[in-house]
Amino acid sequence: MNDIYTVPELYDAFHGNKIDDIPFLLAQAEKSKGPDVLELAAGTGRLAIPLIQAGFTYTGIELSPSYAQWARDKLTKRKLSGKIITGDMRSFSLDKKFDFIFVGFNSFLHLGTDQDALQCLEHIKKHLKPDGRFLVDIFVPNPDHLYRDPEKFYPVMSFEHPQGGECRIVEKTRYDSAAEILHVEWYFYRDEASSPDIYSFDMRMVYPDTFDRLITDAGLVIQEKLGNYDGSPLEPESPLQITIGCL
Ligand SMILES: C[S@@+](CC[C@H](N)C(=O)[O-])C[C@H]1O[C@@H](n2cnc3c(N)ncnc32)[C@H](O)[C@@H]1O
Repeated sequence: MNDIYTVPELYDAFHGNKIDDIPFLLAQAEKSKGPDVLELAAGTGRLAIPLIQAGFTYTGIELSPSYAQWARDKLTKRKLSGKIITGDMRSFSLDKKFDFIFVGFNSFLHLGTDQDALQCLEHIKKHLKPDGRFLVDIFVPNPDHLYRDPEKFYPVMSFEHPQGGECRIVEKTRYDSAAEILHVEWYFYRDEASSPDIYSFDMRMVYPDTFDRLITDAGLVIQEKLGNYDGSPLEPESPLQITIGCL
C-alpha cells in the first residue's frame, strides 16, 4: 500500500477539477490587512498559484518532499515568486508573521490527535500578525460514510491518468470510532484486467464542537463559522465547516 501523498502528478490529475474553493479563498485573503499569506499543507501548489497571481506574497509549508518540489517546479515554470518550504504544520518556525494563515481542503484532518491539532493551532498563533486572520476549511463528518460496510467498495471518481487513459478510483473505508480516525484505501484501476494501484490515507473526523474547543484551547478566537464556499453560515446540514478567526 502506498502513501497517497507521494505521487504529485497523480494528485493534480485526480483533483484537477477541484476549483470551487479558489474564488472564496482569494476573497478571504483580500479581506486581510496586508499581502502576507501562509498556507499550511500546501500540497502541489493548487492554491498557491492563484494567490500569487492575484498579488499576494505567498509562503507554503508542505510535509511531502515530492509534493513540495513539484509545487516549487510549477512556480518556477510559471515565473511566479512564492516560497514553498518542506516542513510539518505542527512544528515550523519562520522569521516572519502573516496577515492571513490558512489550512485548505481538509488538510487539517490529517492531524490525527488533539495534540497534533493543538500544536498546529499554536504555530498558527505564533505566526499571525496582531491583526491577522486564520482560516481552516474541513468537511463535517457524514455518518453515512463512517458507518458503511468496511469490506465493500464504493465509487469515488474517474479521471484522465497522467500516463494516459481513463482511470477509475474506488474506495474502502474503515472507521475507528474510539480514535475518531477514518482509514481510507483508494484503488486505482487503469484497466479492469490488471491489478489496481492501492493508496491509503487517514483522516480524523472532527465535529464542529470539537473544532471550537480546539480553537479555544489554543487561545485563538472564532470570528465566523461558514458552511460552504458561498459564504452561508454553518448549519446542521452544511457539508463544510470553514472557521475564520484571529488572535
Ligand atoms: C488534501 S491535500 C491538500 C493540498 C493543498 N492544500 C490543496 O488544497 O490542494 C493534503 C496535504 O496535506 C499535507 N500534509 C499532511 N500532513 C501534514 C503536516 N503535518 N504538515 C504539512 N503538510 C501535511 C499532505 O502531504 C497533502 O499535501
